[in-house]
Amino acid sequence: MNEEVRVSEDAQLSEGTPESGAHEEPVPEKEEPEEKAEKRPTVRVRIRRGGAAGDPEERFDSFEIETGPRMTVLDALVAVQSAQEPALSFRYSCRVGMCGTCALKVNGRPAWACRTRLEGLGDEITLEPLTNFPVLRDLAVDMSPFFAKMKRARGWLEPTSAAEKAPALIAPGSRERKRIEPHIECITCGICYASCSIVGHDSDYLGPAALNRAYTLVNDSRDALGLERLLEVCTEDGAWRCHSQYNCTESCPKGISPTGAIKGLKRRAVTGGVKRFAASIFRGRAPGE
Ligand code: SF4
Ligand code: FES
Repeated sequence: MNEEVRVSEDAQLSEGTPESGAHEEPVPEKEEPEEKAEKRPTVRVRIRRGGAAGDPEERFDSFEIETGPRMTVLDALVAVQSAQEPALSFRYSCRVGMCGTCALKVNGRPAWACRTRLEGLGDEITLEPLTNFPVLRDLAVDMSPFFAKMKRARGWLEPTSAAEKAPALIAPGSRERKRIEPHIECITCGICYASCSIVGHDSDYLGPAALNRAYTLVNDSRDALGLERLLEVCTEDGAWRCHSQYNCTESCPKGISPTGAIKGLKRRAVTGGVKRFAASIFRGRAPGE
């Protein structure tokens, strides 16, 4: 109790009575303990760097980043680029799963960087460019072989003369619409193409995305190419090359089944061939004449 009182008197003296003559050292103010910022959990991101396969600069670089709630792989890449490695190359545009440009491999599986959360990916996340595409640099790949195949499949509408004159009305409940509907939302991200093992074996194979697009057009009554388009895509390097492994269907972030579309093309080619064969018999001609 006494001691407490003495401490209090000393404190008064040192602060307020210079005329007392005694030189008193000012009592240092007690430092308030700094409020510690809450430490956020971190993850290690391993990123494949360098140019095309075989480039002497090809390597994996690791970066440690702080994570936040709902953080995505794209957020992690932006964090690495802005704070640690400005030279890191990767591609993105919309950030909301609409453009498909951010596709890459996350822990070995193709995915959209902007729609893949860090939660559940582990303490070390490995990011690589998409398989089956030539690498430009780091995570950015060259999409031109993919779009060249879209072009080979003539992935655009060639309107019939009726469709050119007036907008065609396709009822939402019609068989035509129902057939096309599950395949129409493709955003050409290339994920199905990257996961297709047949593309990996045969670089001439049209691949799931181009064939899926062809399927929507072959079934579209506004399209004038019809059988011509079907024959163009049902070739040895087209629909018949598919082994129905469903890798593309499993990986498509839009829930599209390119395998289903390819099967549909095959069915149409077979039924179209049978019809032509029957017609040739009725007309007394050999098929193909
Ligand atoms: S079918 Fe799916 S995975 Fe393939 S390009 Fe289209 S959206 Fe991407
Ligand atoms: S940035 Fe557009 S889909 Fe990811």
